[in-house]
Amino acid sequence: MGDKEMYKKLVDKLAKNTVLDRDEYLTLIKNKDGVREYAAELAGKVRRQHYGDRIFIRGLIEFTNHCRNNCYYCGIRAGNSCVERYRLSPDEIVSCADSGHELGFRTFVLQGGEDVLYTDDILVDIISRIKKKYPDCAVTLSIGERSDESYKRLKEAGADRYLLRHETVNPEHYKKLHPVDMSHENRLRCLRRLKELGYQTGAGFMVGSPGQTDEDLADEMLFLKELDPQMVGIGPFIPHKDTPLGGESPGSAQMTTFLLSLIRLTLPGVLLPATTALGTIDPMGREKGIMAGANVLMPNLSPAGVRDKYLLYDNKICTGDEAAQCINCLKLRMEKTGYRIVTERGDYK
Ligand code: SAM
Ligand code: FES
Repeated sequence: MGDKEMYKKLVDKLAKNTVLDRDEYLTLIKNKDGVREYAAELAGKVRRQHYGDRIFIRGLIEFTNHCRNNCYYCGIRAGNSCVERYRLSPDEIVSCADSGHELGFRTFVLQGGEDVLYTDDILVDIISRIKKKYPDCAVTLSIGERSDESYKRLKEAGADRYLLRHETVNPEHYKKLHPVDMSHENRLRCLRRLKELGYQTGAGFMVGSPGQTDEDLADEMLFLKELDPQMVGIGPFIPHKDTPLGGESPGSAQMTTFLLSLIRLTLPGVLLPATTALGTIDPMGREKGIMAGANVLMPNLSPAGVRDKYLLYDNKICTGDEAAQCINCLKLRMEKTGYRIVTERGDYK
């Protein structure tokens, strides 16, 4: 059997829902160029079995760029004094949801830095207002590490989902990306707690973050299989010039789309976005992501006036567009993929 046939057999094995071991994932990752298209083809089939040709959209509301943390890769880290900081008021956030609902969005993702000014009381108020106005909608939170009690209160207020990328499964690698006052252990603990509390939970990592090895990526796959999250967010690392890792090389679109296929095959029913970072590193990145097995897009609903202030990395796309423009543009772009954008909540099956 030739090498290429052997790689295909491994992909077949994964598609039959058989567990791969670390060496098998590693073989695929090291030889992605020989098997990328085949993996995308099978991932597409699996995705169709679960979700047909539907692409779910999530309206992303980036409500604060204040953050107490100093992740070395992140453009809005506390130590970046070049950032013009902003916060949206509860009324402004609800008004973003109003315009999103009008445009057909049925999920709102409230994302921000870890901003202590948004207390549990304030967040409970925002979530309950959105859920009361739009009971047909899901609210997703992406606001980092909080206490168990806080996660519990926000869930009780009506939050349905929570995105908390673990960033890396390797504790040594975590230290290369974060200062010592940040804890890998706590990040993982939060993730498991969110799942226990009944949130549809999203883990994830950056592809090609400085110091990441192929072995780390194989371990990511094993970790995801074990955690079994309902959502997985991955996108290429893209340097931001005003951060400590600003001089590092970006992650690759090809590795990202290949991993999207492996994740789809590993967790067949997972909700998997083709991220803005992927669309930034490659002009056709989001289309390629969808064709590799992703089934979610997260257009921006933040007011146009603040979009260019939520810059996690350089050259972020769509920072000048209005939400309506974004959604029309994406609908046209997705027509070419054979999949179509739908306006439904798009819960995990
Ligand atoms: N504060 C929340 C948290 O920690 O989960 C949510 C916001 S945080 C900016 C969202 C994600 O952006 C991070 O989990 C990280 O993976 C991603 N991110 C940050 N900087 C990035 C960069 N330079 N390139 C690509 N992705 C980046
Ligand atoms: Fe906090 Fe990036 S360092 S959101």
